[in-house]
Amino acid sequence: MWHITKTQASTALLLAVAYACQHERQVRPVLVKRQDSPPTPLSVEESLLVESISNTTLSEWSYYYTHGDHVAGRNRTMADWTADRFAENGLNSSVVTYNVFLNYPINNSLSLIWPNGSTYHPSLEEAVLSEDDTSSYPNRIPIFHGYSASGSATAEYVYVGRGQQVDFERLVELGVPLEGKIAVARYGGLFRGLKVKNAQHYGMVGTVLFTDPGDDGNVTEANGFAAYPDGPARNPTSVQRGSVMFLSTYPGDPTTPGYPSKEGSPRADRSPVVPQIPSIPISYRDAIPILAALDGHGMPGDAVNRTRWVGALNVSYSTGPAPGTMLSLSNLMEDQYTDVWNVIGVINGTNADETIVIGNHRDAWIVGGAADPNSGSAVLVELSKAFGKLLKQGWKPKRNIVLASWDAEEYGLVGSTEWVEEYIPWLAETAISYLNIDVGTSGPHPDIAATPELHTIAIETMKKVFWRDTGRTMYDEWYDESQGEVGVLGSGSDYTAFVHNGISSIDMGSGGGPNDPIYHYHSNFDSYHWMATYGDPGFLTHKSMAQYLTLLAYNLATAEIIPFDLPNYAIQLATYYEALTSTISAASADLDLGPLRDAMYEFTLRTTEVKALEQQALTGASSSLDLLTVVNHKYRDFQRGFISQGGLPNRTFYRHLIFAPGIDTGYAPATFPGITEAVEAGNLTLAAEFVRKTADAILVAAGILKT
Ligand SMILES: *[C@@H]1O[C@H](CO)[C@@H](O)[C@H](O)[C@H]1NC(C)=O
Ligand SMILES: *[C@@H]1O[C@H](CO)[C@@H](O)[C@H](O)[C@H]1NC(C)=O
Ligand SMILES: *[C@@H]1O[C@H](CO)[C@@H](O)[C@H](O)[C@H]1NC(C)=O
Ligand SMILES: *[C@@H]1O[C@H](CO)[C@@H](O)[C@H](O)[C@H]1NC(C)=O
Ligand SMILES: *[C@@H]1O[C@H](CO)[C@@H](O)[C@H](O)[C@H]1NC(C)=O
Ligand SMILES: *[C@@H]1O[C@H](CO)[C@@H](O)[C@H](O)[C@H]1NC(C)=O
Ligand SMILES: *[C@@H]1O[C@H](CO)[C@@H](O)[C@H](O)[C@H]1NC(C)=O
Ligand SMILES: *[C@@H]1O[C@H](CO)[C@@H](O)[C@H](O)[C@H]1NC(C)=O
Ligand SMILES: *[C@@H]1O[C@H](CO)[C@@H](O)[C@H](O)[C@H]1NC(C)=O
Ligand SMILES: *[C@@H]1O[C@H](CO)[C@@H](O)[C@H](O)[C@H]1NC(C)=O
Ligand SMILES: *[C@@H]1O[C@H](CO)[C@@H](O)[C@H](O)[C@H]1NC(C)=O
Ligand SMILES: [Zn+2]
Repeated sequence: MWHITKTQASTALLLAVAYACQHERQVRPVLVKRQDSPPTPLSVEESLLVESISNTTLSEWSYYYTHGDHVAGRNRTMADWTADRFAENGLNSSVVTYNVFLNYPINNSLSLIWPNGSTYHPSLEEAVLSEDDTSSYPNRIPIFHGYSASGSATAEYVYVGRGQQVDFERLVELGVPLEGKIAVARYGGLFRGLKVKNAQHYGMVGTVLFTDPGDDGNVTEANGFAAYPDGPARNPTSVQRGSVMFLSTYPGDPTTPGYPSKEGSPRADRSPVVPQIPSIPISYRDAIPILAALDGHGMPGDAVNRTRWVGALNVSYSTGPAPGTMLSLSNLMEDQYTDVWNVIGVINGTNADETIVIGNHRDAWIVGGAADPNSGSAVLVELSKAFGKLLKQGWKPKRNIVLASWDAEEYGLVGSTEWVEEYIPWLAETAISYLNIDVGTSGPHPDIAATPELHTIAIETMKKVFWRDTGRTMYDEWYDESQGEVGVLGSGSDYTAFVHNGISSIDMGSGGGPNDPIYHYHSNFDSYHWMATYGDPGFLTHKSMAQYLTLLAYNLATAEIIPFDLPNYAIQLATYYEALTSTISAASADLDLGPLRDAMYEFTLRTTEVKALEQQALTGASSSLDLLTVVNHKYRDFQRGFISQGGLPNRTFYRHLIFAPGIDTGYAPATFPGITEAVEAGNLTLAAEFVRKTADAILVAAGILKT
């Protein structure tokens, strides 16, 4: 996955910061300590589902998925194995193939050349550990960036912090030369492809990205923790692979924007979304001499004065360049049009026109992938097993349930986006919700992000699940961390194509906090051994997450009335509105939000009205069956209203006008994105245009709810 909130200790903090920077969000008030809440009792069917979920089988599925190369498009056997599990549990399963553009690594190299002619050659390898079997696999995956450009460059280099647009603007202000230089950036904050995009935009000729232990919270070697495999701190050789696509422009196959990639599909120019300059990722151990060679050159890190510019390494994080000190970088990739395989399992419901989709991606950057994504894959198989128990009793859900094991998520949400592009006519007619689980667990703290109508059912379902062996509910564990706040969906996993077609969505997982073992995101050390030893000993978090997702899916698929909370949508819109007004006043912009306010008022009225109709449908007599259908279809359809045909400025894929990934964050969301980003870019004509478009969209949604 790319979803940084769930990847490592401090990233939740980073995201909070990124979010606050954009939206001036208020700091949360300190809440009084709550009492633990009692678990909600389960129905007979719910008990059967919950009890059928076993940490033993979860660990078996995890072991299977984490012992073979399953980079996108390279493991058909694993797709078939997944289809077989779905089928043996009674689902109708099939493999849906797309022919997409991907590239694979051939070789790369990097060296540092000092002015005296001496050179340093970083190892560009992760350590082989005798404790961790997959770290030594002969076919282990080299370090590389998916969709990176082939090319080479030898040039002086500049440290650019996290590589956000504002970081580059600061460098320009400081007079640091960028054109023709190589960028060295640290990971964190924005999506990695946007770092490369920004470097390319400033005329730089290559990018090197490194992981900084400053993002590891408290669990560091400097604080006395041993490094993996001897302890929970980061192994100094770990490298974060990952895609460098320009995610915030559009996801999916870069050569088929807006339509499915089939053999013979026309192919578009991919240059708007993939870099033209080469890039490679390195470990912090390999980065130290490169950063140290800039000490004393350019502006020292402290004086640059940008968020998270200075990390935890013993260097000054100076900008450079150091005259005559150069990097020589080369990257060779093999371009291919190749098949990728989504596995689709179906349980037909009695209502053919209502569908729940539950998805997880299967592909990983490494042989392991025990957290990303295969903790979610193990959960999906276990969920099919639980539903299989009910199917054997002759059960049929009210609504269709579709399970999806996606391929090629890591390159850019490719499998899910192509599938949505192919099946959108049917999805637009029938989809109720999409439930996503990517990193099911990389640590012990549950975390969810969802469209607002799902908040209440998502939270209530947590009260039905015991969290690990704590004796507490998942709800209590979650509340302590999140203080009751459900996240907003930006991008970084397979819900993206669903959200931007107006389909209600939730993303769930569980991650580490600043005092938990370091999760080696997209590294060889995201392995079964790490998971069983540090990430989730006993596979108990896997078990709680599987129970949670299964109960949530069960309730969405069987409740008389789809358990959506429409009034909460109106409440959330009001909080996004407040954030927007702070953005506007911070920019001292003069913008009339009247039409937006009026539309929100209308929407609020309609949510109250439909809530009343729901009560009537549940308690009424004669015509109540029809009424149930009427309400269910309003709930199914209303979110389609938030979709704008033209999409956001210069990014027609992103059509939801209430939330989208930030143009310069990729992962973190912007709310009222059309308006907010136009204000931030200083274009008030465009902002006013998006006030109108957003207000219109809200009115369309309100019209669908109107009784
Ligand atoms: C596919 O994955 C399975 C399970 O991890 C593994 O046993 C097999 O070797 C992999 N196939 C290839 C071609 O790598
Ligand atoms: C990479 O592979 C190509 C083709 O095999 C070869 O010509 C080139 O020298 C190699 N480069 C490096 C840096 O190993
Ligand atoms: C060249 O400079 C580097 C960095 O100052 C230094 O580490 C190295 O020892 C020097 N090599 C020689 C041959 O002087
Ligand atoms: C790190 O550890 C210190 C000392 O144990 C603690 O006070 C601090 O809150 C921890 N930091 C975080 C972010 O939890
Ligand atoms: C750092 O930047 C902030 C605003 O981003 C400013 O308030 C502060 O004065 C700056 N500090 C220095 C030392 O320049
Ligand atoms: C940091 O680096 C400096 C030289 O650049 C060295 O003198 C110092 O001992 C180092 N500190 C640590 C904690 O390694
Ligand atoms: C699978 O498909 C068959 C034939 O279309 C159908 O009879 C059966 O009910 C389906 N099974 C499920 C679980 O939907
Ligand atoms: C099951 O649902 C799928 C998808 O809607 C549909 O194509 C198929 O005909 C259905 N099968 C049955 C037996 O209803
Ligand atoms: C499953 O959990 C039990 C405790 O509930 C534990 O004894 C067992 O070792 C776990 N199984 C695995 C495979 O971790
Ligand atoms: C859209 O792209 C064009 C061409 O690249 C650019 O000039 C314009 O500023 C962009 N508009 C926005 C709103 O980003
Ligand atoms: C502002 O947006 C408008 C409307 O999209 C566009 O025509 C204009 O070129 C933009 N202005 C600037 C300065 O980018
Ligand atoms: Zn993932």
